[in-house]
Amino acid sequence: MKNCANRRIMFICLGNICRSPMAEFVMRDLVKKQGHADSISIKSSATSTWEIGNPVYPPAAAELARHGISCNGKHAEKLTAQDYGKYDMFICMDRQNLRDSIEIFGGDPDGKVSMLLSHAGEAREVADPWYTGDFSTAYSDIVKGCTAILAELFGD
Ligand code: 4NP
Repeated sequence: MKNCANRRIMFICLGNICRSPMAEFVMRDLVKKQGHADSISIKSSATSTWEIGNPVYPPAAAELARHGISCNGKHAEKLTAQDYGKYDMFICMDRQNLRDSIEIFGGDPDGKVSMLLSHAGEAREVADPWYTGDFSTAYSDIVKGCTAILAELFGD
């Protein structure tokens, strides 16, 4: 097992009702299937306050459900400066999330903040399905990024 310390993961997007909760529950599903559920903790949050307290946006929840994944009980939460010490990796969906997260933390001295698809060797953002309406592309990008992170953490 590599990078044993990097096992507390916070997924971040703008609203915490589409992409980052999708990533949270996709990752929970992957780690369960791979047998790593007890050695990793996973959460998601928003850089904005816009949707705080709201459930996952129904089309995002429906996309997860199509793949047999439930996100019941999730409500949007705001990323805080205190989270910096509580997690090992902060995984952002786009460049604006990256900039906003680093602003919320007041810097990234430990180099914990990155973009999801950078872990799959791609400089691309996960396009926001709130605006594109394309939840299926968001889902496949999220699976690609989460799979790559798990290979980094637990691969040979
Ligand atoms: P998310 O998508 O950042 O993937 O959760 C959005 C959700 C809500 C809004 C924008 C993006 N909004 O403007 O309320």
